[in-house]
Amino acid sequence: MTDVAKNTLSEKQHNIFLIGFMGSGKTHWGSIWATSHGYSFIDLDEVIEKNEGKTVAEIFDQHGEDYFRLIETKTLRRLANKQNTIIACGGGTPCFHENIQWMKEHGTVVFISSSIKKILERVLEEQDKRPLLKKLNEAELLFFIEQKLKEREPFYTQADITLDADNITSETFKEIISTKN
Ligand code: S3P
Repeated sequence: MTDVAKNTLSEKQHNIFLIGFMGSGKTHWGSIWATSHGYSFIDLDEVIEKNEGKTVAEIFDQHGEDYFRLIETKTLRRLANKQNTIIACGGGTPCFHENIQWMKEHGTVVFISSSIKKILERVLEEQDKRPLLKKLNEAELLFFIEQKLKEREPFYTQADITLDADNITSETFKEIISTKN
């Protein structure tokens, strides 16, 4: 853990927003931590897909990224009244429409930081699900990840807490909670 949350979790409704690049483990760890610590779990992309009746890939294909970013923001902001909830955001969520600021006002933002190599391995396994990546070969993918990470770093690094993806365990959530005071 490299940074300490400034506000207490109780002041922030005990909501945890997990941010980080595609394939960094937000959904994986979020659902594990929620189950083991009695929190609710929400995957933002899943809520969007349910509301729209389409997969994220179909939304990108049929309406474009700008539309996706708008509904992503609307879906996020509808979570304003949640309590004790872990929310796994999409990789781009904090980078549009001042969402990072909004998340910091409504919970504790945790950035899962992952190496480019690890991200590449993970996204290659499920490339088709990710519209921004699906048409790229491995070399293009590597370049894309490097560029996007650079572009997104100023948003990701505004998180209250940064975790190294390689060192996360099911116990890490206790550290997040202990930054309460
Ligand atoms: C995106 C990440 C995806 C999804 C969409 C766009 C991004 O979520 O929201 O494909 O811009 O990084 P995951 O990070 O859960 O894959």
